[in-house]
Amino acid sequence: MSGTTQLQRPALCRRALSSSSFAEAFDAARQKLNELELDDETSASVVTSDPLDAMSDPGLDSAPASSLASPFTTPATPALDPDVADDFAFAFDIDGVLVRGGEAIPEAIEAMKVLNGENEYGIRIPYIFLTNGGGKFETERCRDLSKQLEIEVSPGQFICGHTPMRELCNKYKGTVLVIGGEGEQCRQVAESYGFRDVITPGDIIKANSATAPFRNLSEKDKAACRDLLNEGKYEKLSDVVVDAVFVFADSRDWASDLQIIIDVAMSKGGRLETRSENSDQGPPIYFSHNDVVWSAAHEHVRLGMGALRRIVEVVFEQCTGGKQLTTHAFGKPQVGTFEFATRLLQQWRAAQHGLTDSKGPSTVYFVGDTPESDIRGTNAMDATTPDTNWYSILVKTGVYQDGTEPAYKPRATVPNVLDAVNYGIEREMARRAAKGAGKMLMLDEVAKKALAAPEIKVYGDDYIVAE
Ligand code: G3P
Ligand code: MG
Repeated sequence: MSGTTQLQRPALCRRALSSSSFAEAFDAARQKLNELELDDETSASVVTSDPLDAMSDPGLDSAPASSLASPFTTPATPALDPDVADDFAFAFDIDGVLVRGGEAIPEAIEAMKVLNGENEYGIRIPYIFLTNGGGKFETERCRDLSKQLEIEVSPGQFICGHTPMRELCNKYKGTVLVIGGEGEQCRQVAESYGFRDVITPGDIIKANSATAPFRNLSEKDKAACRDLLNEGKYEKLSDVVVDAVFVFADSRDWASDLQIIIDVAMSKGGRLETRSENSDQGPPIYFSHNDVVWSAAHEHVRLGMGALRRIVEVVFEQCTGGKQLTTHAFGKPQVGTFEFATRLLQQWRAAQHGLTDSKGPSTVYFVGDTPESDIRGTNAMDATTPDTNWYSILVKTGVYQDGTEPAYKPRATVPNVLDAVNYGIEREMARRAAKGAGKMLMLDEVAKKALAAPEIKVYGDDYIVAE
């Protein structure tokens, strides 16, 4: 968690913020609801109870407008931000949603402003970032993102593909082989996580250039690599025993990295330059994510780490006469990654906004571009968490191609991240207004109607039921 506790405020706010913002927000939302003139048919046809609402405090419906903030908020919380939305939050995928080929997707800059208070309700909404990408220190990646999005992004609100790997440094206390990323940056990241003896493919090739016949290390590469046989620790490469392999980031040289991963997988207990008899003694192999493709600058998606993972498994099978290699992946869509994100969001809400309620937001809107990782993971997380509604929103600016059938169905599909943010806010305002007015309606449909955006597609069946 970074020491940053400054509130993320917009450069310019359309209206002055005040402690009565929630009351004003309520009035605005109710006004909008009335303007929408929802037909009775829509209202009457909805009878299903939203489990989310069933779990919220029953006193909320009858509460005065000025207390629209969740009852879980502790008024005495020291750094409480009076204008913060305490009952919902956003989490964002990065590539294909906010950034593409190193440049911000234009609507992303506006979306951040909206989250930071430039919205008609004057509220700020907590948010975090959850990317499968990596290859740099989290602090460095946040600096890049801050520039791209024109806001201050803190490591306290950021998770990349390899972040959860830090939790394995006490499991693997010996030598680990780290693959991927620019130069030797991932070695430094792994060391900062607490891994004690980190080697890379470059170190191995420097010690024995015959390892990868087609890769020539430049003088610069060599200077950055460890001199394994001259450090006083190892006399020969076969003295090195790899406890685990971690693919931290996308490989910059697939052929030599593939060769070395296969070598280690076929080795005797991870000992370099050896072969086990049955090819079943290799150490565990972890990938920081499993995306076969991702959205970069090119008009078509590019191959990602998940593709290398498949290749490793297929080649291992070929080289061992049919043996299966089991590898592991972190990142989305793993539920564990979303659980990690939940903990981060809790800490971020407290540190940044003074929200110290233990229950957390009722709804987290996750905005992603890849059905197989973002939408699949969000939906899986939603199915496992009774207290928080993880609501998946798919954008059309990245991997997902408009007009195709997503492999995993989102709760809503929108053109871009700005639409996603506006949609989530309207949906929440509809919930608040409906509760205050004792109405019964479909949240998704109301939000869509409020934005007057026919291109937004909702699959949901979320209803709010009048008391
Ligand atoms: O390598 C990065 C890519 O696979 C996915 O990044 O931000 O879309 O999760 P993101
Ligand atoms: Mg993405």
